[in-house]
Formats: sequence, structure tokens, C-alpha cells
Amino acid sequence: MDKLIAGQVVTYQGDPFDIPAEEAVQVLPQAAILVRDGKVVSVGPRDTLRAKHPEATLIDHGSALILPGFIDAHAHYPQTAMIASWGKRLIDWLNTYTFPEEAKFANRAYADEIAGRYLDLLLANGTTTVTSFCTIHPGSVEALFEAAAQRNMRIVAGKTCMDRPETTPDFLRDTAKAAYDESKALIERWHGTGRATYAITPRFSPTSTPEQLDALGQLWSEYPTCLMQTHLSEQTDEIEWVKGLYPDARDYLDTYERFGLVREGALFGHAIHLEPREIAHLQANDCSLIHCPTSNTFIGSGLFDMGPRKADALRVGLATDTGGGSSFSMLRTMAAAYEIGQLRHTALHPAQLLWLATRGSAEALRMEDRIGSIAAGMEADFAVIDLASTPAIAQRAITAETVWEEIFPTIMMGDDRAVITSYVMGERAGS
Ligand code: GUN
Ligand code: ZN
Repeated sequence: MDKLIAGQVVTYQGDPFDIPAEEAVQVLPQAAILVRDGKVVSVGPRDTLRAKHPEATLIDHGSALILPGFIDAHAHYPQTAMIASWGKRLIDWLNTYTFPEEAKFANRAYADEIAGRYLDLLLANGTTTVTSFCTIHPGSVEALFEAAAQRNMRIVAGKTCMDRPETTPDFLRDTAKAAYDESKALIERWHGTGRATYAITPRFSPTSTPEQLDALGQLWSEYPTCLMQTHLSEQTDEIEWVKGLYPDARDYLDTYERFGLVREGALFGHAIHLEPREIAHLQANDCSLIHCPTSNTFIGSGLFDMGPRKADALRVGLATDTGGGSSFSMLRTMAAAYEIGQLRHTALHPAQLLWLATRGSAEALRMEDRIGSIAAGMEADFAVIDLASTPAIAQRAITAETVWEEIFPTIMMGDDRAVITSYVMGERAGS
């Protein structure tokens, strides 16, 4: 049965960092999306599509904004229950809060409970795809892939690998061989199954031995269509730590590069404090950087420089980094990206923020042919947004003179209350 989903539909004509933002991102008033078999067939004026397809079921969202579903390009679903833990910077935060919580995922029932809770929180926030780290336990990966399959969500995930005795606790350590074997078995089971993609996942070079990074580089060469996710240059103390652990490396990126982990399909979370050589090699290898703004302020990491990184023609995605990030909401994440942009003297246009949270993340994941925009042939994953979801937002939006002035208060002050519903492959989430 065809569906016509009507509202103000956001479409993309180009990259709003390359061409004027309001040309690149268009808001079509009184528009509709024709959906068939979970995919977009066409987008256009509501009345024209209605007349052409009288048999389609009309779902009318009035003046609500219909966006591509948000894509959170870097998160740690096992940190759901410890989000907003107080008072630590990265290394202490990992040791004090993160590692003890991640140890609980040895228990499959706990992993199932958190995976389901997490994905439901995402859908309530308009996020229809996430790229997540799991824990060292293969069951934590199975739990997330299964929970995503139950909800028909496009998902990227992988077993977090960490084997370095000086930096990881006994209760949360694998080996180079276990990392290779267990990741391989999970790839065989899940990569390309339904809407699942496997990301080979060394946590970051401080928690892996060179032997483990080498084994994972080897694995990636055997399964080149997988993605690879890790962390890079998040805090200055971390960079000093990496220098001590890898004294021969030219810089932090080199600790990955020497093991074949720097190439297209590599997703580097944070990437704040980069050296010129690192930028050049990330660019030459068409790698993706993932900006995690609420995390960067919450853990005190620093200010990602969006303007120059986009000018370098790097793929940049946007992410919560749950639970180093302080919110599950990509609206809150866009607000934080705007604030960090201001501190970097780059005022990000609301059209650029929406694009980053959808198409930008899709390009970072190299999935822009399937998700991240609303156009014929794309998967029908949408977020439907109320632009007057609270009294505070409504009183500001009402005086707006342009659609962008109407949208910006929701970006800055909105949260899950602004999300009317999410659609996954054309079906309302939870229905
Ligand atoms: N670096 C290595 N592991 C992590 C993590 O779990 N969160 C963040 N923010 N940074 C990391
Ligand atoms: Zn992270």
C-alpha cells in the first residue's frame, strides 16, 4: 500500500558548505513524500501528488518539518545507563565510570535490556541510524544487531577491541587473536545482513597493543567493505599518552596508519587536535571525521574546527558520543555544534546543522546512496519535527520572518519533545 506523508519537507540540492546554504537545503512547504515498499518514490507538492495517487494513504503532519532521520555517526550504546556522570576528564572518566559499566555486558540479558532501551530512546529522538561501539563481549554486539533488526533500523556496530595490559583492566581485556577471531565471526554473521553493517572497532590506540592493531588491519583487508571506527586526538593528555606508548610513531594518526587502518571507510571520532601531516593523510585517504560536540564540552576535550575541516574537503559526520556526550538528542547535538562553531568564529547556518546531522553523517558512513536525504530511491527513514514544541520555542518561532528563523529555535532549544514521530522504512516507529 502506497503512503503519502505530508508536511514541510526538507530536501538537499548540494552541500551547504560548498554552495549557499539556503540553495543547498530547501524546505518545501505543503509538500508530500510518496513511499512504497519502504522507499521514497517521489517528493513534491502535496496537492499534485495527492491528485496523482488518490489510492495512497495520506498521513498529514500539517506544518511539521519532515527531515531525513537523524544519523548519529559515533556512540557507545553500552554507556546508556551511565550518561551524565560527573566531574572527570577522558582517561579518569573511562577508568572510573566507563570500564566498570562496560564490564556488565558480559551478561547477555543486560546487553539485551540496554540495547532495546537505547534504540527506543534514539527513535524517540528522531534518530533512525546509529554507528555504535559495543564492548569486548561478542554478546554485546549480537544484542545491538538483534535489537536493530527487530526495529528494522539501519545500524553500524562492532565489537570494541582492547588488549593492552598497562591501560585496560583485567575484567575488560581481550587478546589480538580473540579480537580477530571474534570480530571475524561477527562479520560473517552480521555484515550486510538486512540493514546491518559491521565496523571493525579498535577502541583507540592506547588500549590496543601493536599486535592487536595489526590483526585488525589484516582483518579489514580481508573484509574491505566493512567500516572501521575508532578515536583520534580527542584530548591533549591522551595525545601525550599515545606518544609515550608508541614512541616510534610520527603522530597519533600514524599509530593507525602503520597497521593499514587509515583508508576510505575509516571513521575517526573527535579528531580535534590534528597536526598538518595528519590532516593531509586523512584527506589523501578520504577518511571521515566525526564531530561529537556535546562530548567535547562535557569531558572538556576542545573545540573541533568545522570550517577548515570542511574546507579541506573531509567527510564530516555529527554524533552524540553517548555517554561521553551528554544527550541522546541530535537536536541538542546540533545546538552544541553551533556553540562550538561560535567559539571558533564559524557561525554554522541552521541548514548546515541539519545537513550535518543527516546527509553529512551519511556521507561519513559512505551510505549517502541509501540514507540521509529525502529523494527518489532513498530508504524512507524520517524524523517529523514540531517547530513549536514548547512554550519557549513557540513564542520565539512565532515572530520568525523566514523559515530558517523559524527552524533555528528548535535546533537550539529543542529535544525529544520536538519529535512527533520517526519513520523507519516508511513505518512509524513503535507502531
Ligand atoms: N576514547 C576511548 N574510549 C572512549 C569512550 O568511550 N568515549 C570517549 N569519549 N572517548 C573515548
Ligand atoms: Zn567515542
